[in-house]
Amino acid sequence: MHKDEQSRKLERLRRHLEDGTTDLSPHSLKVPASHYTSEAQNAVEIELMFKQRPLLVALTPHIPNQGDYLTHEAIDISLLLVRDREDKARAYINACRHRGARLVEGKGHKASFSCPFHAWNWGLDGKIIARPNSHEGFAAADDCFDRLVELPCYEIAGLIFVLLEGEDIESKVHALMGASLLDIENYNISETKYIDSRTTELACNYKFFLDGFAETYHIASLHKETISPFYYSNSTLVDQLGEVVHLVSPRKTIDKEFEKTQSEQGAILPYCTTEYLLAPNVLLTHQVDHIQFWTAYPVDGANRCRIELNVFWPNPMDDEAERKAKLNVDLVWQVTTEEDFPQSVAIHRNLISGALPHLIFGQNEPALIYYHQNIATAIGSDQLIPLATANDSD
Ligand code: FES
Ligand SMILES: [Fe+2]
Repeated sequence: MHKDEQSRKLERLRRHLEDGTTDLSPHSLKVPASHYTSEAQNAVEIELMFKQRPLLVALTPHIPNQGDYLTHEAIDISLLLVRDREDKARAYINACRHRGARLVEGKGHKASFSCPFHAWNWGLDGKIIARPNSHEGFAAADDCFDRLVELPCYEIAGLIFVLLEGEDIESKVHALMGASLLDIENYNISETKYIDSRTTELACNYKFFLDGFAETYHIASLHKETISPFYYSNSTLVDQLGEVVHLVSPRKTIDKEFEKTQSEQGAILPYCTTEYLLAPNVLLTHQVDHIQFWTAYPVDGANRCRIELNVFWPNPMDDEAERKAKLNVDLVWQVTTEEDFPQSVAIHRNLISGALPHLIFGQNEPALIYYHQNIATAIGSDQLIPLATANDSD
């Protein structure tokens, strides 16, 4: 986030904290249970939002050097992300063109990819290098079997996007991200170091994961014993940048900035959790001094999801700094898995029971409202009902 924008946001936060207020949405929102539980809606979301929109699948420091690779499960499609010999990030389907075996798992560094099944060897550019011991048995194969299946891939501001269906990824990324790209560029994500990842599957719709991060209203109650003492939990800034919902939530340490003289003030990043919520499934967070990259995908329909956390820290790092960063990953994962995720699963059970027809998002939860309205607009749903306040209807 640029320094001028930080100053403007600091002033907005000061007013909210002095007045005991928070950013509000113009209306509250009534949301039917089917928004989370409907298999038909989930299928439309997968087609229109996961397949036809660029997905943010990785950050530049996942694969900083030529030959670095990362696998990423996008819905049920296994992607292989590679930095090629021209420093370009490329995305392939993680499947050998012979009989479809997965080429690699996880993350690492290779000069080429040798298929575990019959040892066909593939270059970083996706072209076949060798088919050992094949006795010319593939001489009649079409040219398409000489190349891995490649998908459109676009890297900008330290973010790596992939488009599962269609073309023109570059203009689609800019249309989706809008001004948030400039904002995110200021974090110098490319210069950070990958620290660690965690992943889990939950028995709930993937959108509940984003819901748990899109308001700080719950921090004082749900996280009373853990992170609540560190936050001003009910004064949050919420803005829309393109399709991205942007949240800034202050920690109590922000008082240090307010104590400075007016001319010295201006920084908010060291005192805030700054989030970029990209529908349908990504949360990018600047947390005081480091970056968290979260993804959520539906698994086998509407009622199950896979969550992944990746953490990055500014360079340079010595061993002690890296040890502390890894401890921090454990702490973040512990709070979310022990406190947030059980709520998501419990809510989903209540909704699929059929006993609870609707939920409501209050005006003090504007990021939830913007996020879900973005989804509804993208899939052409009219199921989310804005509720006007009494003043509006006068
Ligand atoms: S499936 Fe890869 S070499 Fe046979
Ligand atoms: Fe939480």
